[in-house]
Amino acid sequence: MYLFSSNTEQTEIFKKHLDVKYSANVEVMSLDLMNKKDIDFSALDYDLVFCASGYLGKAGEEIIENDADNDRILKINYSELVPVLNTIAKDMVKKGSGTLIVLSSVAGERGRKSNFMYGSAKAGLTAYLSGLRNYLFSHNIKVLTVKPGFMKTKMTRDMDLPKALTISPQKAARLIYRGYKKKKNTIYIAPIWRLIMFVIRNIPEFIFKKMSL
Ligand SMILES: NC(=O)c1ccc[n+]([C@@H]2O[C@H](COP(=O)([O-])OP(=O)(O)OC[C@H]3O[C@@H](n4cnc5c(N)ncnc54)[C@H](OP(=O)(O)O)[C@@H]3O)[C@@H](O)[C@H]2O)c1
Repeated sequence: MYLFSSNTEQTEIFKKHLDVKYSANVEVMSLDLMNKKDIDFSALDYDLVFCASGYLGKAGEEIIENDADNDRILKINYSELVPVLNTIAKDMVKKGSGTLIVLSSVAGERGRKSNFMYGSAKAGLTAYLSGLRNYLFSHNIKVLTVKPGFMKTKMTRDMDLPKALTISPQKAARLIYRGYKKKKNTIYIAPIWRLIMFVIRNIPEFIFKKMSL
């Protein structure tokens, strides 16, 4: 198993845990989407890629004030990530099989003033994954798009999230695994977000633009 990370020091600690608890044979590899180097995926032995990279960035009023942060949001969630996924997809096509599981977000379903830079990057990622799934179908390669709502992670540690709508990374992992086993194309984490986003997507724009979401 390979763990790609921009913070290899921290990931080495996680690797030790996996090695000891699960006797996993884990190799930590450096991948910083803000300072990318080419990776030769063809030299690696793998058939499933799980991609959880993401960066939320500044929120609300600060969004349009902070170009450097916006650049980071767009790169980590979309523009520097997509070429990596393309490289993996090309390698899977050569190998003749594979599965890609990528975490996007419900934020990509409708731009809101609280996080529209992040949301627009995730919207791009979700559309890219839809096209990639379509392209890779005839090559026997599966693409699972995961749309989390709120998860209790480092990304949201300073946020006051509604308890009833927030799940643990462990529960999210179990739901993602279930979606993978059921060969789903797109899943919401948790399922209630499918309904919530249905409602949000269908609020008329003349009302939506006045709302504080
Ligand atoms: N938490 C939520 O409520 C929530 C909601 C919707 C969607 N999501 C999405 O779920 C996924 C997982 O997020 P999380 O909640 O686990 O947040 P997190 O704890 O902040 O994790 C962010 C991930 O992005 C990676 N990353 C950050 N900067 C990177 C860089 N420069 N290069 C490469 N990788 C980088 C980190 O890996 P390293 O530090 O090891 O590089 C880490 O795996 C993300 O795609 C996020 O957008 C989360």
